[in-house]
Amino acid sequence: MERQREAEAGAGGAAEAGGEAGAPERPAGERVVSARPQEEDAVLDQSLRPRTFGEFVGQQKVKEPLLVFIQAARARGEALDHVLLYGPPGLGKTTLAHVIANELGVGIRITSGPAVERPGDLAALLTNLEERGVLFIDEIHRLSRTVEEILYPAMEEYALDIIIGKGPSARSLRLHLPRFTLIGATTRAGLLTSPLRDRFGVVSRLEFYTHEELESVVRRSARILGVKLEPDAAAEIARRSRGTPRVANRLLKRLRDYAQVRAQGTVTREVALEGLRLLEVDELGLDRVDRRMLLAIIQHYGGGPVGLDTIGAAISEEPQTIEDVYEPYLLQIGFLQRTPRGRVVTRQVYAHLGLKPPEEAQARLF
Ligand SMILES: Nc1ncnc2c1ncn2[C@@H]1O[C@H](COP(=O)(O)OP(=O)(O)O)[C@@H](O)[C@H]1O
Ligand SMILES: [Mg+2]
Repeated sequence: MERQREAEAGAGGAAEAGGEAGAPERPAGERVVSARPQEEDAVLDQSLRPRTFGEFVGQQKVKEPLLVFIQAARARGEALDHVLLYGPPGLGKTTLAHVIANELGVGIRITSGPAVERPGDLAALLTNLEERGVLFIDEIHRLSRTVEEILYPAMEEYALDIIIGKGPSARSLRLHLPRFTLIGATTRAGLLTSPLRDRFGVVSRLEFYTHEELESVVRRSARILGVKLEPDAAAEIARRSRGTPRVANRLLKRLRDYAQVRAQGTVTREVALEGLRLLEVDELGLDRVDRRMLLAIIQHYGGGPVGLDTIGAAISEEPQTIEDVYEPYLLQIGFLQRTPRGRVVTRQVYAHLGLKPPEEAQARLF
């Protein structure tokens, strides 16, 4: 009981600072630090999205081999091997798919796992590709089994096997497709079936970005948007962007609005700090939802281990969303650990939330 009161007091300071009057506007319920795309991102994404490898910041381990494969494919006049890109949302999978098509000098057609409902939908896409063109399937782990089976011969032999007719008179017809490159993207590589996964020649995992890389991302974005951004402010935004370019760009946009209203348009360090405080994004890029989740694990489950479903129920979030969107960054900074029995918060979390570490709290109880 006492522990609980302490915990609430400790977190209250962080969670309730600022908030209402003068906070930069945001649609209710949307988190400014969510790595998931939001409606307002659409326009921003178009203008800020890098088009070439030169503009695409970071991810050297992914870019270097791809550059070689692209050059080789171009030189031989062949299609690039199929590419699977995986990693948490907002790290540049969609962007990279466009960059690859651009660097190959070919067109790109875009769809997503849930959008391809029937085998015929996929057949229509495949037969309409240009020679050596790119087909991008986002959320490829959500393809249905029947659609996926059409993909196997398409990927392997550039062929479509179509069944015509029914019963004894049914026969199979083989259609030849243009040579093409499938680029698949997923946040959950583990959910891909192995036959599908095995058909990708290139499998690349995107990593969280360093602060330096995120600084270049926001500086580049500020240039494109015509925002005056002081170096200290760029560094501050980078530190609080959860290793994620999408978050960095969104914070920049919010702070730009705030700077316009409060500071004649220049994003200074003071503007950044004040704006981030109003947005309730803390020094590590955690927001109210993160803090609520960590606090719930500590207060109700003694710091864990606790299952995702239980955490989800405690904070009214889909366990799936927690796993895909919120948790990867908390794992990355060492705030959460996955164990066979569930999630556990680490000592650092207590310090960050201003709570007494568990040993001390317990020692006082006995
Ligand atoms: N390497 C990068 N360099 C610069 N900006 C990037 C980079 N990766 C992503 N971005 C920015 O972040 C936004 C989100 O990237 P996106 O490709 O949509 O992520 P994902 O598909 O992995 O969710 C893009 O619109 C782009 O502006
Ligand atoms: Mg995407």
